[in-house]
Amino acid sequence: MIFHMSVRSNPMLRKTSLALWRAWRSWKSSMHSPTAGASSGPGSRERSEELSSVLTEKPPHSPVMLKEVLHYLDIQAGQVVLDMTFGGGGHTKAILNTAPEVTVLALDRDPTAVSLAQQLAKEHPGRVKPLLGRFSELEVLLSNMNIQPGSIDAVLLDAGCSSMQMDRAERGFSLSKDGPLDMRMDGERYLDMPCAADVVNTLDQQALASILTAYGEERHARKIASAIVEARRVNPITRTQQLASVVAGSLPAAVAYARKDRLHRPAHVATKTFQALRIVVNDELNELHAGLRAAQAALRTGGRLCVITFHSLEDRLVKRFLRGDDLSNLDQYHFSPRKQSTRREKQADEKRDGGSAHWVPLRRKVITPEKDDVQENPRGRSAKLRAALRR
Ligand SMILES: C[S@@+](CC[C@H](N)C(=O)[O-])C[C@H]1O[C@@H](n2cnc3c(N)ncnc32)[C@H](O)[C@@H]1O
Repeated sequence: MIFHMSVRSNPMLRKTSLALWRAWRSWKSSMHSPTAGASSGPGSRERSEELSSVLTEKPPHSPVMLKEVLHYLDIQAGQVVLDMTFGGGGHTKAILNTAPEVTVLALDRDPTAVSLAQQLAKEHPGRVKPLLGRFSELEVLLSNMNIQPGSIDAVLLDAGCSSMQMDRAERGFSLSKDGPLDMRMDGERYLDMPCAADVVNTLDQQALASILTAYGEERHARKIASAIVEARRVNPITRTQQLASVVAGSLPAAVAYARKDRLHRPAHVATKTFQALRIVVNDELNELHAGLRAAQAALRTGGRLCVITFHSLEDRLVKRFLRGDDLSNLDQYHFSPRKQSTRREKQADEKRDGGSAHWVPLRRKVITPEKDDVQENPRGRSAKLRAALRR
């Protein structure tokens, strides 16, 4: 069974984890499994239907900060580039067109994205090599292809979900379209992997609140966790809209209506809850850390790395990785109470942003999208790009 490090090694969740997974297993195997709809996910027929509808949407995902990525990757003719997050292939297509005879290794954990990469490989014979797997599986995938560590010229990691995943109700990420509460980026690849419905229906109240605080940075985590536990006593929570209304109902209207996104547009009150669940279901922070380590191992000296993230938990992790901090106890960092840094600590931090034994930053400060780009592609509004050179 895939046993998520974020739950297993966290002191606040460790106690509940064994009981949780036992409860989850028996609940899941019960004849009347309430998440049957959520966990059944797309099989191969559904996936081919999904793929054909994705193919008719043009483009399925608009690449974020494309200009900036091409600038910092500075790809030259004949180079080998690793796109660790192929998604809809927007970045890969631009990379293929930026210089002649470039080859792209195109990784994604989502089988639908990899099917798109296979289509692209047919259009560019010998230049696109699709790889199905997670960041944490990359080392093995590259070694199976006889690709030596330290041989890749450039790596792009565009973290998070694609529009194809977010916008399709049946994937269960969407707040606005009703679907099974699924959220697994891997689709049906790992049958033992819990989906979002499994998490909300089996974790105890304290564990739920911890997850919402740590991964959603949700100030009302305890109220929401209590409402979830109350609601699931009556009926298991198996649909996205069902969860969204439980969350909305748990908070006073003044809080619900006051939520704004970074463009100051009204934001759904359950956005942070959905973010937290997505991170847990897909083990996103541990995966990001594994991805950064895999990129470090794959790149040659002088090779370039671009990482795009979409929320502060991810960006902090990338920033700390590039400056050489010890991230071996990731969970303790995420679950420890935030403290204000002193001026001296801030100054020491800034000094360390100058790089590490392995990385030279290509720009010291984080890079954000230009205003016009955000108007054109609002999904990129919270994107942050960090670019570095491998020492
Ligand atoms: C933001 S999208 C990438 C969009 C892409 N750059 C484009 O231009 O279309 C992120 C993609 O990364 C994939 N992904 C996220 N985490 C991953 C992981 N740990 N391992 C492999 N792929 C991952 C997701 O499945 C998704 O397709």
